[in-house]
Amino acid sequence: MIEYDELFTATSNKIPNSNRLLERAKDKLLSSMVTGPYRFPANVIFVDHAKGSKIWDVDGNEYLDMTMGYGPLILGHAPDVTVDAVQKAVCNGTTYAIANEHEVLMAEEMCEAIPCAERVAFCNSGTEATMMAIKIARATTGRSTIATFEGGYHGVHDYALVGSPISSGTGPAHAPEASTDCNGIPENITENILKLAYNCDESIERIRQFKDDLAVVIIEPVPSGYPVNMQRFLQQLREVTSECGILLMFDEVISGFRCGYGGGQEKYDILPDLATYGKIMGGGFPAGAVAGSAAAMSSYISSGEIAQDANERKVFAVGTFSGNPITMQAGAAVLKFLRDNPDSYRKMDELTAWAKQELNQWAEDNGIAANMIGENSWFIPYLGDKPFTHYRDGKDNAHTLRNVVYSNYMRHYGVYIPDLHTIFFSTAHDQADAEKFVETSKKVLLIMKEQDMF
Ligand SMILES: Cc1ncc(COP(=O)(O)O)c(C=O)c1O
Repeated sequence: MIEYDELFTATSNKIPNSNRLLERAKDKLLSSMVTGPYRFPANVIFVDHAKGSKIWDVDGNEYLDMTMGYGPLILGHAPDVTVDAVQKAVCNGTTYAIANEHEVLMAEEMCEAIPCAERVAFCNSGTEATMMAIKIARATTGRSTIATFEGGYHGVHDYALVGSPISSGTGPAHAPEASTDCNGIPENITENILKLAYNCDESIERIRQFKDDLAVVIIEPVPSGYPVNMQRFLQQLREVTSECGILLMFDEVISGFRCGYGGGQEKYDILPDLATYGKIMGGGFPAGAVAGSAAAMSSYISSGEIAQDANERKVFAVGTFSGNPITMQAGAAVLKFLRDNPDSYRKMDELTAWAKQELNQWAEDNGIAANMIGENSWFIPYLGDKPFTHYRDGKDNAHTLRNVVYSNYMRHYGVYIPDLHTIFFSTAHDQADAEKFVETSKKVLLIMKEQDMF
């Protein structure tokens, strides 16, 4: 058994080329939090290439990848459908900033897939999508306060970084207070944000109480920090927002095309007014989109006359690379594959359910506080001692520390899982991959137990 204090040296010995790159990166490239692995100082691996469910680092080590780019890679790494589409597309120019057929085709595909979508606008990330959607919601309703949920993640613009997973935990558990996540965000931004708690009646009452100020209520239908089935609560949100004339927005950056082709809104059969997208829809390229009903998007839809748009102060939200032909064609190729192969969702969901169930049962039988919690083809390993009933349980210290140890051991044994993030399956994962994930997890959790970490 490798003891935890020997683990970093043991892994370090396997990755000399990565270590050299890390030293160069520390000198010139990085903030300490640009992407997940850099949060932790030791044993950062640098990827050389990836295919299907596997990645290889610059030292030639192979890993089973359970990170999947933080969610976009639903068909695995470098799937033929996107490689073919992109190889063809790239020869015809990589960006135009001029109208092109591919953005129309993609918009049509998305309006077909997404129940609430009558109109779509493209951008380049989930952050941009939620930023644009907030602006649209405010302009459409003429109100400025937005409601978001404690621990919800909506990217890194100022409004998203209030009570996100970074800083959550302020105020009472059922009526959280808005607080900024980091320096650089004006404190008075909190005056325009109402923070709510998941799955609780008090949130519904607070929406009623603030109805005259609220433009929009924003929620991930399956929150990455609280990935439980909230069907009833989402339905209550739909009812209270309709009753109060407030827009309801689903942030489907992860759940879109992941919970099924129609995303969270199809899974729960609830129609929001607005929805935001990113990740999968870009086919592995940077992408984002806002979709919604024509009424909810009315403040953004052009009249066709520049002077009239200016007069009406229509929302201005554009981007040099928005709707660029490479992203549109890569994304459309993936969406078309998913539309034409609905069985792939069933297979991914079944494989994920098998892995979760296998591990959860084994952990229970062995007295280890490990619980894989999630929906469809993604989940979080919850390693806390208390039952996971409130979002704040996921901030538990024991869980956080164990999670970091677990992911470092997993990587040492050839399974790449992100620290403190969601684990994803893809259509490229097969039964052997699922077994490798489960067996390696068991081995690691036992090693941790032997060192009294549980
Ligand atoms: C639900 C949700 N919204 C927004 C974002 C931000 O997307 P991006 O990282 O593309 O800016 C993320 C990213 O993980 C997300 O999970």
